[in-house]
Amino acid sequence: MPLPPTLPLPAGLALPSVGLGTFRLRGADASGAVAAALEAGYRHIDTASIYKNEGEVAAGIAASGVPRREVFVTSKVSPYQQGEAAATAACKASLAALGRPIDLMLVHWPGVARQDAAAPGNADARRQTWRVLERYHREGAFRAIGVSNYEVRHLAELLSYAEVAPAVNQVECHPRWQQRELRAFCSDHSIAVVAYCSLGSGALLQDPTVQAVAASTGVTPAQALLLWGLRRGCAVIPKSADPRRIADVSPARLAQLWDRLTDDHLAALDALEAEQGQCKYAWDPSGIA
Ligand SMILES: NC(=O)c1ccc[n+]([C@@H]2O[C@H](COP(=O)([O-])OP(=O)(O)OC[C@H]3O[C@@H](n4cnc5c(N)ncnc54)[C@H](OP(=O)(O)O)[C@@H]3O)[C@@H](O)[C@H]2O)c1
Repeated sequence: MPLPPTLPLPAGLALPSVGLGTFRLRGADASGAVAAALEAGYRHIDTASIYKNEGEVAAGIAASGVPRREVFVTSKVSPYQQGEAAATAACKASLAALGRPIDLMLVHWPGVARQDAAAPGNADARRQTWRVLERYHREGAFRAIGVSNYEVRHLAELLSYAEVAPAVNQVECHPRWQQRELRAFCSDHSIAVVAYCSLGSGALLQDPTVQAVAASTGVTPAQALLLWGLRRGCAVIPKSADPRRIADVSPARLAQLWDRLTDDHLAALDALEAEQGQCKYAWDPSGIA
């Protein structure tokens, strides 16, 4: 079976399985990386209001000459923007920066910034934010809506009241943080999983097992890690500011390398979590009530 170029979303939408992450990319670095990615064949860009680069993402798309409608853009309502009024303002600002419609809008985090993680107010605020996303979705401003960093219990709660079910859960996922239970839950509920930190924010590229798998299959460590995520059914959104690295893991390049990793190679990467222990590189939602 070849690399699935897209993952199915509700209403016939398709999420390109390889996108460019843009966390920490600012200014000309952000617009340049987006233009380089589109030149390399990417059609999926991941941004967020908290990255403060939505305008640069739009500028990079415009500079590339690729029509905006051909690019799948994800943005997110930040933990500082939870609740009816703040989320409404956040959605308006993202639409002004990125243009209408936005392909996928996510609740970035189940909690509220500067609020006690255990406080029950988190649940009320994210429910209000979800209602705002549903409203914009109904109006056609967001083609799909979803969440990020939701654990199984956050998803179960959301599914209990959602009028529009989440299309996506974007979560940290790589061989040292595999999210098996969460991925199974998402699969059971037709929620596509977008894996972030596939490269461990760069740290996993140095792992000896990753390097050995890469060397024995003729791929780079970055390609090996992204192939692992794709082979486990996730979309991936690696971030780089370097056009050569962006091209190195482009959708076409990963499609060429799709079957380089055998089941044994995948099993060696699967074993990392048990052999070396779990390792998380980004924020941890496990304490959010
Ligand atoms: N929803 C959330 O809460 C959340 C949290 C974290 C991340 N994300 C999203 O996921 C994206 C990816 O996560 P991430 O940025 O934390 O980490 P990542 O993609 O795991 O790793 C990025 C790092 O790897 C390096 N790199 C990239 N491609 C490479 C290659 N081919 N060879 C060698 N090094 C390479 C980059 O350096 P250079 O830039 O110098 O090339 C950068 O330092 C983010 O940009 C963001 O869009 C979402």
